[in-house]
Amino acid sequence: MSGADKTSGLAGQRLLLCVGGGIAAYKALELVRRLREAGAEVQVAMTAGAQQFVTPLSFQALSGHVTRTTLWDSGAEQAMGHIELARWADRVIVAPATADLMARLAHGLADDLVTTLCLATTAPLTIAPAMNHRMWQHAATQANLATLRARGVQVVGPNDGPLAEGESGPGRLAEPEEIVAALAGAPGLAPTGPQDLAGLNIVVSAGPTYEDLDPVRYLGNRSSGKMGFAIAASAAKRGARVTLVAGPVHLATPAGVTRVDVRSAAQMHDAVFAALPADIYIGAAAVADYTPREPVANKIKKSSESLALDLVRTPDILAKVAAQTQALKLVVGFAAETNNVAEYARKKLEAKRLDLIVANRVGIADGGFESDQNAMTAYWKDGERSFATAPKTRLADELIDLIVERLNA
Ligand code: PMT
Repeated sequence: MSGADKTSGLAGQRLLLCVGGGIAAYKALELVRRLREAGAEVQVAMTAGAQQFVTPLSFQALSGHVTRTTLWDSGAEQAMGHIELARWADRVIVAPATADLMARLAHGLADDLVTTLCLATTAPLTIAPAMNHRMWQHAATQANLATLRARGVQVVGPNDGPLAEGESGPGRLAEPEEIVAALAGAPGLAPTGPQDLAGLNIVVSAGPTYEDLDPVRYLGNRSSGKMGFAIAASAAKRGARVTLVAGPVHLATPAGVTRVDVRSAAQMHDAVFAALPADIYIGAAAVADYTPREPVANKIKKSSESLALDLVRTPDILAKVAAQTQALKLVVGFAAETNNVAEYARKKLEAKRLDLIVANRVGIADGGFESDQNAMTAYWKDGERSFATAPKTRLADELIDLIVERLNA
């Protein structure tokens, strides 16, 4: 699909970009450029903090509109420029959304132009968080995130990786092209095809997990994330709000999907539970069953002929999601098996108390891990359906068809 196709839903849209006060504010300049390239009209409002990083004039040059920086605009009708602007927007985007800005949005404060605009508008809101990884993972920020999500706010990112302060972790602003793609697929912006998942929150896990043995080695597996990413893309296309919890993979974030990058099974567990409550959970990730008992700070030396690893079980994310008291409408697991596929899959369906399990054979050429195509069979309490070999993108669409059927069964 070309970039123009992906973002054509933005053509003619009136987008209000609210820029928060973080170092990532400079990336918002590129975001304005890309949104305009996609055919949107863009107006920009900045917090006082944002103006410490980038000048209003830079945004004005790129957007073609005066950048708004104050609540009290004497040039606007009735000096209430913020109300006009809040009414004008088809969608409001906050990027970067700092921890402070997220907290003020979650609590409905209106103590500056940006928070007032967000409170005064009836347009859908998208936020792209960016902050230090410890601030992102803090219980207060995660609670604010859950509040915003529950209110229907679309969340894009943050991505995992090096941060400005020299540390690394989840907290990087999603790349401008990811934000544009997410907006293009955002509910309310020119939806295409059936919207039979509209209004539903779906959490999808994808990819492998890496369990670090020491600073240079890890236990991993061959999952590429292709299956889980295809499912997330398909669900978003059909109107769902999708959070994709991704292990270490090299895939672009599907349009309209909020992505949370993780490395280990423990991190995937925490990210999945932070994304709840949800209506549907789809566990397509190949989560490590075991992890080293103790993290080793220094490289393990080659001192003897053999090496025994002391491993302990990881939390079973899928079983815990299915068992939690805030019941989901549907919990879907995957089973990767090399033999006795149907028997093992049905056992997992029962043992983990799932609504649906999708079994696939792994360890074969042209299917399972890494391949672009797959074949699979879905099992539920009193039924099953086979999906013949096909590209994972098509299988994802067919699986979503089945999920919609099971929701309505
Ligand atoms: O990523 P690709 O290269 O596209 O490959 C796709 C796939 C083969 C990885 C995918 O189709 C698949 O089968 N995913 C599940 C792989 C797996 O871990 O299967 P399992 O049988 O070990 O686990 C059963 C279920 O429990 C899975 O839904 C898994 O996400 C979940 N689980 C497992 C262990 C654990 N600690 N927590 C879990 O949630």
